Amino acid sequence: MKIILDPTPILKIKTQALINFLAMEEVKTIEQRDDLIAIADIIKPRLEAGDFKAEYLETLTLFPQGIGPERIILVGLGPEKDLRPARLREAAAKATQTAVLLKLEQTALLPPPVRASLTDMGQVAEFIILGAILGQQVYGELKTKDKDKKRPLTALNMVMDEKSETKALRSAINAAEITADAVYLARTLGNRPANLLYPEVLADEAAKLAKAGKIKCTILDMDEARRRGMGAFIGVAQGSSRPGRIIILEYHGAGKNSPPVALIGKAITFDSGGLTLKGGEGMHKMKTDMSGGAAVLAVILATARLKLKVNLLAVIPAAENMPDGGAYRPGDVLTSMSGRTIEIISTDAEGRLIMADSLSLALTYKPSRLIDVATLTGACVVALGEKCAGLLSTSEELVRDLKQASQTTGELVWPMPIIEEYSEQLDSDVADCKNIGNRFGSAITAALFLKQFVEETPWAHLDIAGPARTDKATPDIPVGATGFGVQLLLNYLRKL
Ligand code: BES
Ligand code: ZN
Ligand code: ZN
Repeated sequence: MKIILDPTPILKIKTQALINFLAMEEVKTIEQRDDLIAIADIIKPRLEAGDFKAEYLETLTLFPQGIGPERIILVGLGPEKDLRPARLREAAAKATQTAVLLKLEQTALLPPPVRASLTDMGQVAEFIILGAILGQQVYGELKTKDKDKKRPLTALNMVMDEKSETKALRSAINAAEITADAVYLARTLGNRPANLLYPEVLADEAAKLAKAGKIKCTILDMDEARRRGMGAFIGVAQGSSRPGRIIILEYHGAGKNSPPVALIGKAITFDSGGLTLKGGEGMHKMKTDMSGGAAVLAVILATARLKLKVNLLAVIPAAENMPDGGAYRPGDVLTSMSGRTIEIISTDAEGRLIMADSLSLALTYKPSRLIDVATLTGACVVALGEKCAGLLSTSEELVRDLKQASQTTGELVWPMPIIEEYSEQLDSDVADCKNIGNRFGSAITAALFLKQFVEETPWAHLDIAGPARTDKATPDIPVGATGFGVQLLLNYLRKL
């Protein structure tokens, strides 16, 4: 979809539909919206008749006569006090979905004014455009018939007046397009089934994208990982006929001496549980157990496109957790890259094993901080529900900054405690530690396990087991992989 900044007055715009956003309070005071004065007479009778209350995500399509726009689509923003960037994104997604359902090809969109917790016009424009794009995305690469295929818009004109700062708006559109591409990539990889997306494919994809994006990419195969002593990673990967890969990506946007921020993303392309086999129900959903890795890949690519002034390292351990004759077993002891030995109690607690070695690997790059993203525990979903990630961290600063980013993007995170008293659960009779504790508080013991590998470097762990996928669509998030964490991390990095 081509996005065009359009200074034409709204009455004159030649468009199939002009999209306008209204907050509930504005329904009675529409005259006060300077930007809508020209069409107030057209809208007002319908508002007075009570046809449109501007409830959140409510829409109404009008067919005005004798003006440029063939239609006017009103989209409700709900109460003004609840307005936040994420709500704008969702409302804009609803708007383009409405246009697509009407089989339109092109629309014009008037971004709403800045207010409530919205910071400036750049932010409004960015989230509106982001939503407008995300609302039209579908995962369709495996459908051969397009009987109910919805055709996305080819063009969207963003209306601006002569007072608008063109440069800020252009950069907002650019950021929105890059962010939307990143979210789409993470969702596509997450939705792609495990027979088509296995570690080698993910590594090839990462290498290809990195090359196009001028990012340094190093892929470690099984031999190289073994040579580097990554025994925890190898243990998990060895049970699959698909060999594992460690994907390392480096982006340099700041001075040579500035230490990188390290992002580590779990990429289990399928989690059967291994010999500690999972139950059959819902097992297909474990194709999204690589969502952390997909998010991290998407983020570093977008960081390069946004030319952020930061050095970034991404480590993505990719493996398939399967139960074949070569698989690691409960009772096995693995020697991690750090030298720490780990007794395996459950082969289904594989994520923390590949993440442990990846944290050790990341530390060799002397990062300023470590942020890991992983679909790590069902317990985190029990604790926080399906929409919210757990945030477990050794750094108050990281908690503060990630929470702040979360408030902007609407990807919910909630801090959970790392309770040291539970660490004795990980004591092993035969090795330095076990890979699981008891069944209570296991999101916390998972974090305690990882903490053994981060040394003194400030570290935050995002357990995204809940929000990485969804069974219920919202306007800007279709069913399936959500791309959770992409916008959050990009927002965090942009504010550094
Ligand atoms: N990939 C799962 C966690 C998961 C659960 C992700 C639900 C998404 C939705 C992880 O590898 C796992 O199996 N964790 C176990 C750990 C347990 C054995 C301590 C779990 O949470 O049950
Ligand atoms: Zn598992
Ligand atoms: Zn897993």
